[in-house]
Amino acid sequence: KDLLIMNGPNLNLLGKREPEVYGSANFEEILDQINADMGELLLPYRLHYFQSNHEGALLDQLHAVGFDYLGIVFNPGAYAHTSIALADAVRGISRPVVEVHLSNVHQREEYRRHSYLAEAAVGVISGLGWRGYALGLRYLIEQFGQKI
Ligand code: DQA
Repeated sequence: KDLLIMNGPNLNLLGKREPEVYGSANFEEILDQINADMGELLLPYRLHYFQSNHEGALLDQLHAVGFDYLGIVFNPGAYAHTSIALADAVRGISRPVVEVHLSNVHQREEYRRHSYLAEAAVGVISGLGWRGYALGLRYLIEQFGQKI
């Protein structure tokens, strides 16, 4: 079974971008941390990663894997707050999506408090840094993975 971590706009700049908000690790380093943190739990799964700054590319990726993969951990960046299309895509696919934000969006500007995507996601993790991705994956595996 396959799992996907997907990052939206500006998250390719992680490590360089506002490190006081988003930390100093780039996503390659974060993926290493996630793999180390999850250890054996990930062994039966293939973990894929996709990042795009383009709303349409994120839509295409959700459509491509959203009927097939175990689930998706998605940090939509600012598209959380603006994109009805991405929220509709999450509603339209059959596999669960966990929304993740590195920062605590409720501690920041007012316009970050609302997420269209959250209305369609199974849950939201915000403010726990890179661990949010690992916790999201853990949830998908425990809740939807094969029970032996
Ligand atoms: C973010 C929070 C968003 O409000 C912001 O636009 C981002 C990053 C986060 O991971 O904390 O680009 O999704």
